[in-house]
Amino acid sequence: MHGVTDLPFRRLIRELSGAHAPFFVSEFLSTGSSVFLTPSNLRAIRFCKEEEPFCAQIFGHNAERLASAALQAQELGAAFVELNAGCPAPKVANKGSGSGLLRDLPNLQKILHSIKNVLKVPLFLKCRLGWDESSIVINEILEIAEGCGVEQLTVHGRTKVQGYKGSANWNAIGEVAAKAKIPVIGNGDINNAEIAMERIKNYGVKGISVGRAALHNPWIFLQIANAMEGREPAEITGSQVCHAIFRYEELLREDNLRAGQILGRLKQISARLCLGFNAAMPDFRLKVLRSENCQDFLDNFSSSAILSPNVFSLPYAVGS
Ligand SMILES: Cc1cc2nc3c(=O)[nH]c(=O)nc-3n(C[C@H](O)[C@H](O)[C@H](O)COP(=O)(O)O)c2cc1C
Repeated sequence: MHGVTDLPFRRLIRELSGAHAPFFVSEFLSTGSSVFLTPSNLRAIRFCKEEEPFCAQIFGHNAERLASAALQAQELGAAFVELNAGCPAPKVANKGSGSGLLRDLPNLQKILHSIKNVLKVPLFLKCRLGWDESSIVINEILEIAEGCGVEQLTVHGRTKVQGYKGSANWNAIGEVAAKAKIPVIGNGDINNAEIAMERIKNYGVKGISVGRAALHNPWIFLQIANAMEGREPAEITGSQVCHAIFRYEELLREDNLRAGQILGRLKQISARLCLGFNAAMPDFRLKVLRSENCQDFLDNFSSSAILSPNVFSLPYAVGS
C-alpha cells in the first residue's frame, strides 16, 4: 500500500507474524517518468532477504515504459511483477493508469503482452471489477489476462467509482474464481481471521489479500494463520502493542528516516492501532499524539493507559 507498506512496516509485519509471514508486495511504483529507477522508486523497491520471494508492483499506461520497468524490477531481484489496474486516485486513474486501464482494455492487453514479451519471472495483475456499476469488465479482464499468459489475478471487489466505500462484492469475486484457469486472489474488507476463513471457504479463491486491516492490526496475518491451522487466533495485549511500537521506531531509525518522518509514521500507526483499545483513547489522544519528538512520543506512549493488560478488541470498523 502506497505510503504505508514500506520496508520498515513490512519488516514489522513479518516479525509479528512469526513463522506465518504473508506474501509481500511493494508499494506501487510509478512509471510516469522516463527513468524508472528514480530515488523514490529505488527506495520503494527495496526488500529484505526474509521477504523473498518478493513481488514488485508497477503502474502506468505506457506499454514500453511498463515493460522496461518490469524488466528492471526483475533485474533487481523481484520474483514476481504485478501490474496495478486498481488504483482509483484521480491523478492516477484519470491519466489512464491504475483503474484507468479498466476503461481501456485494448491498452491493458497491449501492456500485458509487452511485459510478457520481456519478463522471465511470473506476471500478476491486480484489478477492480470495473470503472462503475454500469461497466463491469472483470470477465473481459480475466479473458485478456489468461490470453496474455498472466499467472495470477487479484480482484478487489469494488469499482473505481466506489473508491473504498461500500462493501466489496465477494459474489462477483467468487464468479471470477469459478471461471478462471489461473489462481484468483480475493481482496476487500478482510478485517479479521473469521472473515478470512469464511471468504476462503465460500468463494473458491486460491488466496486472500489484506489491505487496510493490517494497519489497525498488524497481527492479522498471524491470526489468520492460527485460524487456518484450526487454532484460536492469538489475542493481542496492550503490552504487545507497546512492544510493537518501540520495535517499529527502531526499524524506522535503521532505515535512516529523519526524526520528523519517524515521528509522523509513529503517530500514524499508533493512532490506527489504538482504535482496538477504546478505553485508552482519550488519554492517548491527549498525551501521545501531541508529542513533539520521538523520545517524548515513546515516553508518553509507554506511560499511557495503553499499557494496561486490556486485550486488543476485534472486530472494529476499518476506514482507509
Ligand atoms: C493508503 C492506501 C494505499 C494503497 N496503495 C495500494 C498500492 O500501492 N497498490 C495496490 O495494489 N493497492 C493499494 N491499495 C489498495 C489495497 O491494497 C486494497 O486493494 C484495498 O484497500 C481493499 O482491500 P482492504 O479492504 O483489505 O483494504 C491501497 C489502499 C490504501 C488505503
